[in-house]
Amino acid sequence: MKESHRTSLIKSSAIRRMLELSMGMEDLVHLEQGEPDFTTPNHILEAAVEAMRKGFTHYTEINGTLELRQAIAEKLERENGIEADPEKEITVTSGSQEAMFITALGILNPGDEALILDPYYPAYFEDTLLAEAVPVTVPLKEEENYHVNMETLEKRITKKTKMIWICNPSNPTGHVFSKEDLEVIAEVAKRHNLIVFADEIYEKLLYEDSRHTSIGSLPGMEDRTITVNGFSKAYAMTGWRIGYIAAEKKLSATLRKLHYYTALCPNSISQKAALAALTGPQNCVQEMVKEYDRRRRLVLNELEKIEGLSYVKPKGAFYVFPNFSSFEESDEAMALHLLKNARVVTVPGSGFGEAGKGHLRISYSVSYKQVEEGMKRIKECLRLKT
Ligand SMILES: Cc1ncc(COP(=O)(O)O)c(C=O)c1O
Repeated sequence: MKESHRTSLIKSSAIRRMLELSMGMEDLVHLEQGEPDFTTPNHILEAAVEAMRKGFTHYTEINGTLELRQAIAEKLERENGIEADPEKEITVTSGSQEAMFITALGILNPGDEALILDPYYPAYFEDTLLAEAVPVTVPLKEEENYHVNMETLEKRITKKTKMIWICNPSNPTGHVFSKEDLEVIAEVAKRHNLIVFADEIYEKLLYEDSRHTSIGSLPGMEDRTITVNGFSKAYAMTGWRIGYIAAEKKLSATLRKLHYYTALCPNSISQKAALAALTGPQNCVQEMVKEYDRRRRLVLNELEKIEGLSYVKPKGAFYVFPNFSSFEESDEAMALHLLKNARVVTVPGSGFGEAGKGHLRISYSVSYKQVEEGMKRIKECLRLKT
């Protein structure tokens, strides 16, 4: 069987490749995956158990239960300054990953161009290709603190530019975009009539003085922003496969058409769990963030001790994206070197775009002990190398 033309356009992810390479190896420290090590908080588990026991095990409304959509609408208004009608403008999806897929297929025609801030989350690039559209990367420079430059953006706009993908806070850099940077993107989007896909899945994982702004809340952005969020990261719910989209009603109607044929409806039990996550106590999130911050500070402290590295201090998500280019010819070679000699799994930065070349993504979503051990091994390995 020959795979379809569309499928042949996309490649598997750098994380998967690293996992394959590490298969069969023992005594590894895994710093490659963006997966919270916490178990989903208890009150959320209880809500799911109760749902199952009560027989809430059937298909639900296609776009998610109204009670969940209402809770999402309240959250968006309260926390993000976004007004969305739960009836027509909110769609509950099978994780935010589904949102990317249906957005690419719903918005992009073959040959359309989509801007992607680079380094980027790989699904934006691959989903654009799947829609037979053209990903146009906008390099953000480490030395400019990943600042979004109006000129760099404008230079890439053509008649075919249709949308822009952004991830704030960013995976893989952990960078939180300032309100000013988002205003630059918003201005360009308005001037050129672009749709903005705003992935806000890390919005609650913030450190130090960082603050999250939703681009959809900026003036004139309400009808052109597809705001996407999910429960995986903030509530340690990766396995529940639940997320949502907020978009103006015509855009939502388009995405809902695809959503139906992709997912039929989101998981019923996960919807009850998500409702409990949104309406229940939030101190569980604060506690997890506090622990991530402890790990983040540990990683940054250790990186400081390694000469020849540079990085932008991450103030969001659970990633650090240091530049290792002074140690090896390529980031792939560096990741392989660390895998073989330190038995630490990381992800080569080029898997997140051209601008990621020379970098490695280190995730501190595993236990403090694992992070500590991983950083000790990396430090030792680099000391022997130099
Ligand atoms: C930026 C970003 N968006 C979306 C996702 C996927 O989220 P979900 O579990 O909601 O599909 C991830 C997962 O790593 C991510 O890093």
